[in-house]
Amino acid sequence: MNKITIAIDGYSSTGKSTVAKQIAKYLGYVYVDSGAMYRAITYFAMQKGFINNDDFNKEALIYNLPKVKVSFKFNEDLGFAEVYLNDVNIENDIRTLAVSNFVSKVAAVSEVREQLVKQQQQMGENKGVVMDGRDIGTVVFPRAELKLFMTASAEKRALRRYDELIERGDAVSYDDVLKNVQERDYIDSNRKDSPLIKAKDAIEIDNSNLSLDEQFNKILQLAKMTIEGLE
Ligand code: CDP
Ligand code: CDP
Repeated sequence: MNKITIAIDGYSSTGKSTVAKQIAKYLGYVYVDSGAMYRAITYFAMQKGFINNDDFNKEALIYNLPKVKVSFKFNEDLGFAEVYLNDVNIENDIRTLAVSNFVSKVAAVSEVREQLVKQQQQMGENKGVVMDGRDIGTVVFPRAELKLFMTASAEKRALRRYDELIERGDAVSYDDVLKNVQERDYIDSNRKDSPLIKAKDAIEIDNSNLSLDEQFNKILQLAKMTIEGLE
């Protein structure tokens, strides 16, 4: 069977990573969470003190980038790959609102993008990959056979993310999560380097009113049709 590349882009908390994991598992493909890589670099910058309250020492981060190794290791129990920073598992440390509040500023730095895009392209060299993010269909894999662009109302997305953070035990307010979602949408869509835009050949899916099952079935059908179309 022909292997394809599936690029899933879209706004925060639209269910990209949930559906990407499900599709990769079903097809026996590799799933790559490109957002986790930007979060890992943000976490590194916070640990090193390059980010302090509202102050971001961009130059210090750029200078230290060659020392940052972001990698993934598959966790059999969880069924997906966890993210590592210089060989330390940081999967649980990168999903906090504190990291979310800075990640879009770090992701707007061209040197950061250059390093991560190169690595992402290497991970997808042999196809059979489902990658989700903001610039996968436009920059990382512009020739991906299937491109999806996920949207949903900001309020729905914030509520989904809020529920997730509360379940993890993070004491956050819905208003702060909504503010973060809206701010990231704005920065991600308006940055100079690789802004979040729908690729011309991407299929847009608004999942405001789709359940996880409905969303999975819809996207699986699209993936199967794309694969069959190549045979
Ligand atoms: O899961 P969520 O949608 O909240 O975010 P994520 O996928 O973990 O991505 C976190 C942030 O990384 C985004 O808000 C973007 O600023 C950045 N990002 C990016 O610039 N390009 C990507 N391909 C993936 C993420
Ligand atoms: O990767 P991204 O930030 O786009 O979203 P996600 O982490 O896959 O999904 C964020 C949350 O929304 C998760 O808790 C999903 O279960 C939930 N979700 C949902 O309830 N219904 C959908 N149609 C999509 C996502």
